[in-house]
Amino acid sequence: MKHLNDADLPVELSADEAALLQQMPQLQGVGKARRSFMINSAAGSVGLFAADLLAQEAALAQMPLADGAAVAPIKAQNVVKVAFQVNGAAQTLELDSRVVLLDALREHLALTGSKKGCDQGQCGACTVLVDGQRVLSCLTLAATLGGREVTTIEGLAKGDQLHPVQAAFIKHDGFQCGYCTPGQICSAVGVLAEAQRGHVSHVTGDVRKTTTRLTDDEIKERMSGNICRCGAYPGIVAAVQEVHSGRQAAQTWGYATDTQTASAHKEDGHATV
Ligand code: FES
Ligand code: FES
Repeated sequence: MKHLNDADLPVELSADEAALLQQMPQLQGVGKARRSFMINSAAGSVGLFAADLLAQEAALAQMPLADGAAVAPIKAQNVVKVAFQVNGAAQTLELDSRVVLLDALREHLALTGSKKGCDQGQCGACTVLVDGQRVLSCLTLAATLGGREVTTIEGLAKGDQLHPVQAAFIKHDGFQCGYCTPGQICSAVGVLAEAQRGHVSHVTGDVRKTTTRLTDDEIKERMSGNICRCGAYPGIVAAVQEVHSGRQAAQTWGYATDTQTASAHKEDGHATV
């Protein structure tokens, strides 16, 4: 049977629906098609449900808290004690056994230089050194590091003296936003040590020989686990190559002088200094 309405398209009712409609004469005169009726019914139900939830929330909010509930400490589970060195200082932490090194550094030791990018081993932003070898701290359980030596970006400089890789990154404009930079630098320090130990890589021509001389391709391959969204890669490769080879390359950029800055402002139509 067709149930027609001025505002609605014809809708085919099933035999059961038609019989039901016949038994509900009050609906016949309302002038609503089945579609409108169903929509309004659903909206009404949702409205009632939401109102019910709000009323429950309001009632819960007014319930008095149990004695001490607001100040009850959250009990840590699976706690393990880890004693290790971080940047030359002995540290002993009591941690949930599932805590990764990255979180232990950032949240328990306030060493926020190591960055959390992807948190799943894909970007390299969290790279640190463990006993001189680079690791992804977001994939390393802190509980496994008892007795080990961890070095983060904060531990590379000696006082005011930057690590040579840090200085080379500045010289060669190896960073832009800087977010990936701590991981890039720690990774580069690890790469240089790998080269000294003669490690080979996927692009090493003859893997029967040890590799101590890093070409640009070797550096790119070995640093490929560290992603830079700004695309500062040419500067990063130049920085690592300079430290590795010891060949000083000229710096290709410089800060603008005050006169140059003022002149640029004038040309742009901005206020001059
Ligand atoms: S945060 Fe560890 S690899 Fe991305
Ligand atoms: S310098 Fe910005 S992500 Fe690498």
